[in-house]
Amino acid sequence: MASNQSYNVKFFSGEEVPLELHKVRIVQKLNLIPIEERLKAIVEGGFNTFLLTTKTVFLDMLTDSGTNAMSDNQVASMLRADDAYAGSQSYMRLEEAIQQVFNCKYFLPAHQGRAAENIISRVFIKPGDVVPMNYHFTTTKAHIELNGGTVLEIYTDEALKVKSKHPFKGNMDIAKLEQIIKKYGASKVAFIRLEASTNLIGGQPFSIANMRAVRKVAKKHAIMVVLDASLIGENAYFIKQRETEFKNKSIKQILHEMIGLVDLTYFSSRKVSSTRGGGICTNNKEIHNKMKDLVPLFEGFYTYGGMSIREVEAMAIGLVETLDETVISQSPKFIRYMVNELERLGVPVVTPAGGLGVHIDAGQFLAHVPQAEYPAGALAAAFFLISGVRGMERGTISSVRDANGNDVLADIELLRLAMPRRVFTLSQVKYAIDRLCWLYKNRKLVGGLKFYEEPPVLRFFGGKLKPTSPWPQKLVAKFRADFGDSL
Ligand code: F0G
Repeated sequence: MASNQSYNVKFFSGEEVPLELHKVRIVQKLNLIPIEERLKAIVEGGFNTFLLTTKTVFLDMLTDSGTNAMSDNQVASMLRADDAYAGSQSYMRLEEAIQQVFNCKYFLPAHQGRAAENIISRVFIKPGDVVPMNYHFTTTKAHIELNGGTVLEIYTDEALKVKSKHPFKGNMDIAKLEQIIKKYGASKVAFIRLEASTNLIGGQPFSIANMRAVRKVAKKHAIMVVLDASLIGENAYFIKQRETEFKNKSIKQILHEMIGLVDLTYFSSRKVSSTRGGGICTNNKEIHNKMKDLVPLFEGFYTYGGMSIREVEAMAIGLVETLDETVISQSPKFIRYMVNELERLGVPVVTPAGGLGVHIDAGQFLAHVPQAEYPAGALAAAFFLISGVRGMERGTISSVRDANGNDVLADIELLRLAMPRRVFTLSQVKYAIDRLCWLYKNRKLVGGLKFYEEPPVLRFFGGKLKPTSPWPQKLVAKFRADFGDSL
């Protein structure tokens, strides 16, 4: 296929429709249960969408992690898995895929992204070190801190603006990076971390121009650059769409350009290759050797790294499919459709549309709910209640209390509605839009939440909350008044 091929399909009507360039051959029946049963489910789950079972969920938009649809070729490849503890041929195929897609000679497998973060942090972080990054991810920050390091976020002024037209909100602020190196000294900077399609600010990409600028600073001070490539396919797609220099380049050329600008790349395969697992790759033998011994210690033998061999096979195929623009653009196109519709209908949503999912600005949506009563958590629970759509809180509940036990209010309160690749149909997306609009119209009925069970670490996973007033019952009554006996 020509590298400058356009994958857009224009409709005669002029309507912008993200046409599916795949067909569905294996299906899973979904449950859309009555709102009264959903009320019971969310009460039992402590108003925490992580604690719901999928029996009660209609559209699972919690995450794209391990939930993207696999291709026919991926599933087929699992049958030829060469189950061997050491030296499996499946692993050889994975190494070839790493070479082809990431242009990297050396690879270390890991059971998922955070396992790669464990290895990298243990090897490269000393107590007192700092790690500048465009924005943190929860597991990344936890591993860096566990090893005595401190995360420094050096995003641009545009990054946290909910409404923006900036094509690359994931860019790093180069002037701030220079200041940090000057302040702490290059020897204290363990590495600079760039996260593709930056998760916690709404799946926002960075540009290659920005990567080049980061590289230049890093080179000047001999600092290693680490790339979190969990969502690199989407970032490469946005570069092709939004950075003129790369308009006519293939996804493969863009990926190679990106990887060529860093010293070490790691990823969660639960995202990038629509499988499970993870890994670390580099072209620097010295860097590779420093980490190598930790793989058999924490993960498993070098040729499976905690993954099943079936997963290794499917990962190899999934990685190569990352080079196919119709695969990696599917989720961003559905996200763009949903964001455009929500914007048109006046629902506060993060713009421009990014990768991973649609991010609703809960701070604005529930402006009457104080931040100390967790508006993003309340919105996630309320949206599940009225629609059966499960999203994820990405706000104050997802952050950690300070040393005095006080809540640290998040920079932005978001409800994330993930769009796993090739999983949902457009009418399902329309349903989510419709119910969100109804909820926005009835937003004043939604109140806050407070914890009654709060784990000391990663509280967003297991914590339980209750409403500060009987608002869920009022919401159910209004739903019935407006929708009658509709599910
Ligand atoms: N880095 C990024 C950017 C991620 O989004 C994730 C996971 C990880 C690392 C950790 O990888 O889950 O395989 O251990 N993100 C998931 C999410 C959990 O829902 O966004 P993992």
